[in-house]
Amino acid sequence: MNAQPTSSLDRAPQVNVSSYIRGTGMSVPDRVIPNSYFESYLETNDQWIRERTGIIERRWAEPTMSMSDLALPACERAIASAGLTAADIDGIVVATVTPDYVFPSTACVLQKKLGIRGSLAFDVNAVCSGFVYALVTAEGLVRSGAATNMLVVGADMFSRLIDPNDRTTAILFGDGAGAMVLSAAGESNTAPTGGPRVPVIGSPRTTRGIYGSQLHADGSHGDLLCVPGGTAAPVTPESLRDNKHYLTMNGREIFKLAVRGLAEVSDSLLKRHGMEVGDVDHYISHQANARILTAVAKQLGLPVEKLALNVEKYGNTSAARVPLLLAECVSTGRVQQGDLVLISAFGAGLTWGAVLVRM
Ligand code: ACO
Repeated sequence: MNAQPTSSLDRAPQVNVSSYIRGTGMSVPDRVIPNSYFESYLETNDQWIRERTGIIERRWAEPTMSMSDLALPACERAIASAGLTAADIDGIVVATVTPDYVFPSTACVLQKKLGIRGSLAFDVNAVCSGFVYALVTAEGLVRSGAATNMLVVGADMFSRLIDPNDRTTAILFGDGAGAMVLSAAGESNTAPTGGPRVPVIGSPRTTRGIYGSQLHADGSHGDLLCVPGGTAAPVTPESLRDNKHYLTMNGREIFKLAVRGLAEVSDSLLKRHGMEVGDVDHYISHQANARILTAVAKQLGLPVEKLALNVEKYGNTSAARVPLLLAECVSTGRVQQGDLVLISAFGAGLTWGAVLVRM
């Protein structure tokens, strides 16, 4: 008699995998900013911040630190944890909206700091969803044969974008960086031969790698979360005087759209792969606000113990949120090799997306 399938993983189609997460790393600045810091000069308090956001403290970089200074240790840790050296990296993609310079890209700056030359390197701007966009882009580059070991970085310093006197936004954001090495799957990790890679086809129960992804954007809501200062709204002495160069946000509206976007994209990605929320071992989502995440978990029917959280320690670190949390969960042993992880993010643009990966 044939055994009855015990979970949707037994019925799910085989997966088609070109790359897998080989190493992870994170870094945050040393300077801790507790909620009490804001109590000293704003009309706010620790209790309000904890109850509305789940945040207890965040890290802010010293003014002398650049984005690449902060991201470099995360990159080095990711490369070391992959068992590689910088010379093995043949592609770098950095998700950030707080680059060292307008140009060159922070990816090029990091390439130089890592002491390598010749690899492809570029930045991606999808704000808080930036890392998910970068990961999907890197996956495509490995699949196409353009790269074998991609360094994928999410890093932001929102302490440089917030109005310190705006209590509605100043309390939310922290600085941080996370990185991962995404390597070609399969027996051979040799240099590409000029064509697309032959993917590994395998069981969704055991095969390591990126199973699939989904990305979305809706530019019609761009005004809900915005930092002026580009060619459409250049910084002038008047705009500086009036604090027009700082981040502005409609928090209530973003909250609603984030819950809906994160829940829908997660559900849709699982369904596309014939899986259910019960198959997921860990839900690693963009950490903007603990209430957003518990609302998403409720909508998905996800047990809260599968929801990884560290927003209380770091606040919203924008593009760094997902890789920083994943690296921390790997280093503490919470996420183990072989676990099925559902990654998702939501941010300004609006942008949102999800990635399904077996570690
Ligand atoms: N301390 C005390 N009171 C405050 C503070 C503060 N720091 N900030 C706002 N308030 C006040 C408001 O002025 C308002 O007062 P009023 O009723 O007298 O007008 C009251 O608190 C309620 O304000 P709301 O905006 O309705 O508060 P809400 O419960 O929505 O919480 C918050 C605000 C935390 C910003 C929430 O809307 C949120 O987290 N939204 C998501 C925004 C976000 O995460 N953006 C990041 C980028 S996008 C992303 O990463 C998903």
